[in-house]
Amino acid sequence: MGGLKYPKLEDINIAAKTVLVRTDLNVPMQGGHVTDTTRIQRLLPTLNYLIRKKCRIVLLSHFDRPGGKFVPSMSLAPLVDALSQALGGREVKFGVDCIGPAAYDAVAKLQPGEVLLLENLRFHPEEEKGDANFARELASLGDIFVNDAFSCSHRAHASITGLADYLPVAAGRLMQEELDVLGSIFSGAKKPIAAIIGGAKVSTKLELLINLTQTMDVLIIGGAMANTFLYAQGHSIGKSLYEKNLKASALKILRQAEKNGCRILLPVDVIIASELAPASPCDIVDAEAIPADGMAVDIGPASVELFGEALGKCKTIVWNGPLGAFETSPFDVSTVSLARIIASLTAKKRVRSIAGGGDTVAALNHAGLAARFSYLSTAGGAFLEWLEGKPLPGVAALLESDTRPAPAIMTKRR
Ligand code: 3PG
Repeated sequence: MGGLKYPKLEDINIAAKTVLVRTDLNVPMQGGHVTDTTRIQRLLPTLNYLIRKKCRIVLLSHFDRPGGKFVPSMSLAPLVDALSQALGGREVKFGVDCIGPAAYDAVAKLQPGEVLLLENLRFHPEEEKGDANFARELASLGDIFVNDAFSCSHRAHASITGLADYLPVAAGRLMQEELDVLGSIFSGAKKPIAAIIGGAKVSTKLELLINLTQTMDVLIIGGAMANTFLYAQGHSIGKSLYEKNLKASALKILRQAEKNGCRILLPVDVIIASELAPASPCDIVDAEAIPADGMAVDIGPASVELFGEALGKCKTIVWNGPLGAFETSPFDVSTVSLARIIASLTAKKRVRSIAGGGDTVAALNHAGLAARFSYLSTAGGAFLEWLEGKPLPGVAALLESDTRPAPAIMTKRR
């Protein structure tokens, strides 16, 4: 997927235009305050470019899942301060609706270089339905559509796929960066390439694992999903979390990997505890002989060593999903230890390390190692679907726009 062709900011005449920027401001918040500004920070290259070009900048985003109605606690209003701070104190205006008179008035008052954030797109049910009239209403607010929300591009929603039908479109800087780096995983990455897949359930990552057996040289499986593989191989897994009904799928993945020359690595030892509670007494046991009353809560030190050794022979590493119950100390040990090994390989320029997914990034932040990976994707669901090899509707809309004539700038209703 490397070398994708789509319009970029430099490819369109954007100066002084009113630009609708689809962003992903679905950021972690607590008590009305943003608790992690990563997604906001990553938008700055696009926003600063548009400011320099004296554009009138209209930010579109969803927040959470309000289900098509106004939910006060899901308003984007608290994002105004966080955005303004990220932009070095620049004023950010707010429009109380993303379509209709409130939106038109707010856009009409914008001056060159000013930034306006419109209210949560998902307060309108038409957004998630991908409704063409809703997309047209949104499009009538601006001259150009910039998609800078790779992390939402797995959704065929009106603001992701529909706007390109009515406006000239370009990828923002963050979208471009995600496509460049994630595109290189399947095309152009230095080999051998390894994927580390963790998390609780095989069922949520079935397609992902199948696709990776076709594209990876090494596939490391950790987290509770490894228990399902151990069970499928006929080992006792005690009281560990697993998915009984996925035995056949796990065996199929193992067979397919063997056929494709993809080396699958499973844990060789695990940490067991009687309950998943902080500092609860624990023990290291052989992964193939978990006692009947034992519950695997993390992988063990021999597994980390085995995985680290295999990764040391690779040139590219992709990581999604923690290896243990990392939120509960001390069951974060293997995730943190493997992250350290990868950070060190990255620092020595021996590997290029790419990580993505909410839990994975949270685990790397927890380990204090996020900045020591080559690349962190801002995407969760979209990152997974990309690794599954699925076409993402938002990316498809961008790619198509490269091969068809750009829609003429609309006559605005405002
Ligand atoms: C995300 O946080 O992954 C994106 O904002 C998409 O959110 P969604 O899963 O609610 O569509």
